[in-house]
Amino acid sequence: MSERDYKELFQILENIFKEKKEEFVPGKTTIHYALAVYDHQEIFAALKSLLSGWFGIGRYASEFEKQFSNFLGTKYCVLTNSGSSANLLAVESLQLPKGVEAITPATTFPTTINPLIQKGIKPVLMDINPSTYNVNASELEEAYSEKVKLIVLPHTLGNPNEMDSVMDFAEEHDLYVIEDSCDALGSKYDGKYVSTFGDIGTFSFYPAHHMTMGEGGAIVTNNEEISLTVRSFRDWGRACVCPICKIALDPNAYCPLRFSQTPLPDYDRRFTYINIGYNLKPLDLQAAMGLEQLKKLPFFIRKRKENFEKLYRELSAFEDYFILPKSLPKAEPCWFAFPLTVRENAPFKRRDIVDFLEKRKIATRPLFAGNILRQPAYQNVDFRVVGKLENSDRVMTSSFFVGVHPALTEDMITYMVNTFEEFVRKFKE
Ligand SMILES: Cc1ncc(COP(=O)(O)O)c(C=O)c1O
Repeated sequence: MSERDYKELFQILENIFKEKKEEFVPGKTTIHYALAVYDHQEIFAALKSLLSGWFGIGRYASEFEKQFSNFLGTKYCVLTNSGSSANLLAVESLQLPKGVEAITPATTFPTTINPLIQKGIKPVLMDINPSTYNVNASELEEAYSEKVKLIVLPHTLGNPNEMDSVMDFAEEHDLYVIEDSCDALGSKYDGKYVSTFGDIGTFSFYPAHHMTMGEGGAIVTNNEEISLTVRSFRDWGRACVCPICKIALDPNAYCPLRFSQTPLPDYDRRFTYINIGYNLKPLDLQAAMGLEQLKKLPFFIRKRKENFEKLYRELSAFEDYFILPKSLPKAEPCWFAFPLTVRENAPFKRRDIVDFLEKRKIATRPLFAGNILRQPAYQNVDFRVVGKLENSDRVMTSSFFVGVHPALTEDMITYMVNTFEEFVRKFKE
């Protein structure tokens, strides 16, 4: 395509997106719990990548990995096709023997915990704090045994864990730490982005998250060995793990390593397998979208924080009925959503408020899997459980969240707050 064709394509897309803007009608327009915010620039970038004639990961993926690790301040980033794949690759890359244990919260997302089960690692389930929805770092010692080799912590809904105490504990006991930061892009603890404290951080770029590629994910790490192992497992288990593959960028390129540095004598390194791998690669068009989203990320982070603050200020009036989310003194969360837990003594149940909101077009969601122990698929899993998991059970019966995504407007937030007020008023009369 010529330069002129691209300009025309860009113009067409820009016009389509200008026409797409919808007016907010309270009670009629859905207020989503999450929403991908993108425009003609992401679609143009994706099409441009497609039109290049190469679909697999290539120059856009390499550029994204560079820019994403620069943003976070990590040495390495490996792009994946989802956050779930990133979690699987993170656990896989540590190559822990079967039978070891990993400490993780009971309130979780399924594919945060599934890689442990899939790799024969026993999850040690801790309860969460009812306001932060994360584990209390002071209770890690109680969960510890000689078999524990790993801690897997999601920063729940973007709320940072107590990373200084967690890392002290991990160092003391020589444990790996994986930070599932899929819901926490832009959140900081003690001035540092979450995902950069432990051995590996993982991200999701599914549309509900802080930025999107349609689907997608990434692992970040400062450990070169881990990054290369992740790359190998991601790419069929092959020996070829250069961060930027010359041949992927140009099929005619000469690679000096191809036949020289291979574990099999005189055998193409690209077809030499050093791990029992997967294929968990994204498409380059996803990375092309991601690069456009990265430009908007500072705005997304600011808006999420502002929306959360506004909701927090207004919903504080209903604290007698709901437990409001809290973050730690050193935490600067960039929230995925606004969680609420209906108090035990409230004159209504979660179902009542959720139905009320949903009927008025305010979307809600439960806190992912709630207590994973209660989910049907996990009934025969060999867990070790620490304590009674009472707060996780409470999440299962009484917690839900509403959105704070960057497309929320002042009018939408006012409508959300008024709807809560209208609901609660019934119980005051
Ligand atoms: C904490 C957490 N981890 C992992 C995932 C999985 O990410 P993906 O949907 O990209 O597989 C999610 C998805 O929402 C999540 O919230």
